[in-house]
Amino acid sequence: MSGKFITFEGIDGAGKSSHVEWLSQWLRDHGKTVVVTREPGGTALGERLRELLLNEPMHLETETLLMFAARREHLAQVIEPALARGEWVICDRFSDATYAYQGGGRGLDRAKFATLEHWVHAHLQPDLTLLFDLPLDIARERIVLANRVLDRFEQERVDFHDRVRQAYLDRAQHHGNRMRVIDANQPLEDIRKVLENIVSSIGL
Ligand code: TYD
Repeated sequence: MSGKFITFEGIDGAGKSSHVEWLSQWLRDHGKTVVVTREPGGTALGERLRELLLNEPMHLETETLLMFAARREHLAQVIEPALARGEWVICDRFSDATYAYQGGGRGLDRAKFATLEHWVHAHLQPDLTLLFDLPLDIARERIVLANRVLDRFEQERVDFHDRVRQAYLDRAQHHGNRMRVIDANQPLEDIRKVLENIVSSIGL
């Protein structure tokens, strides 16, 4: 049996992290070996790059290149070996986040994004991408309630996050085979049911 590569996406405050945890456990309960990881990060080098990316002001293209540099390392060290072993990989954000945040949010030229995506993972896309979508004001409220220090992206203005959200939805429209939009503004139990159905449908 071969494993699957599942990515989780959404604007800040969409609640995807708790779903990552829950789905990983659900898959383990179904006998799967699961690697849970995140971007930017997932390797020792990637986590150091994450620290910089989330806190240090930098040029948009520097930011994009570092996202993809961390991703290259992550693929080589973690994602590709795990998939080769037949394990499931659950990744909290992947290239769709670069498309949405650096492309939609910050206005990076789409052709530059496409070049980097082709360079770093021309032959690999997630088997399934779960896009957690909800209105901005509700996402903001969740972030404020969490009451912690905000990173560089979370500190961005509402219009930035609105462009991120629209870019995600636009990408989902064009990648309907692998991307599924989930209404994140519903009770946890209902979201879990949706997740179970979607993941079962790609073949356990
Ligand atoms: P996030 O995944 O939301 O982590 P946490 O739940 O711990 O806050 O934080 C990562 C941030 O990095 C998020 O605001 C989006 C941003 N990001 C990009 O801008 N581009 C990318 O390619 C990736 C992977 C993340």
